[in-house]
Amino acid sequence: MIKSITRSMLQQLEILSECAFTDLRDPPWETQDFEQILEKGGHGWVATNSETPDQSSIQACEVAHETLHHSAPELYMGYILLQDCVDFIDILKIATHPHLQNQGIASQLLQTALKHSEKRFTLEVAENNYKALTLYQKHGFQRIGVRKGYYKNKASPNEERIAINAIILEKKRST
Ligand SMILES: CC(C)(COP(=O)(O)OP(=O)(O)OC[C@H]1O[C@@H](n2cnc3c(N)ncnc32)[C@H](O)[C@@H]1OP(=O)(O)O)[C@@H](O)C(=O)NCCC(=O)NCCS
Repeated sequence: MIKSITRSMLQQLEILSECAFTDLRDPPWETQDFEQILEKGGHGWVATNSETPDQSSIQACEVAHETLHHSAPELYMGYILLQDCVDFIDILKIATHPHLQNQGIASQLLQTALKHSEKRFTLEVAENNYKALTLYQKHGFQRIGVRKGYYKNKASPNEERIAINAIILEKKRST
């Protein structure tokens, strides 16, 4: 089921974000990051499932937050977050739980977002994020530019700091 994101979901989204964004160059968002976006008019959707049979395997990477998951009535499988601007929509984040990837969840969320508005959509994605680049290209996004050295953090604490370019993608609409 696809549901609009509300404030009561943000703690669970933080956990999902922590699991999905493992590259420190593009760090996961915390609850307050999500809150700030909602305060600025951002919005989005979450893909949920109340009948997922094996929640235990999904919880495995979230040991620190296990209690939150046990108390959750449903599993958050993925989310997309957007910011509506005057003449375009910016896709800020999209993520699927690592144990549930390659099942079309991000595609479903992206389609929900695209149905929401006829404005053009834009986003930035790390040039080495092949999964995300393929996903966006599959949904008609085209490369319109590059932001050099956009991701400046280390990929992990032990790695050297190497800046990664961001590819700017756009999906034009008929209107
Ligand atoms: C990118 C991401 C959101 C894709 O989520 P997903 O739910 O697995 O995506 P879907 O199952 O809907 O796959 C849609 C398309 O993405 C591409 N894709 C997904 N996984 C892929 C992989 N491992 N390798 C190459 N392409 C892949 C394919 O084109 C796929 O379509 P297909 O199955 O018809 O071939 C997910 O990998 C993720 O959460 N990554 C970490 C967070 C992130 O980097 N977000 C994007 C930057 S904000």
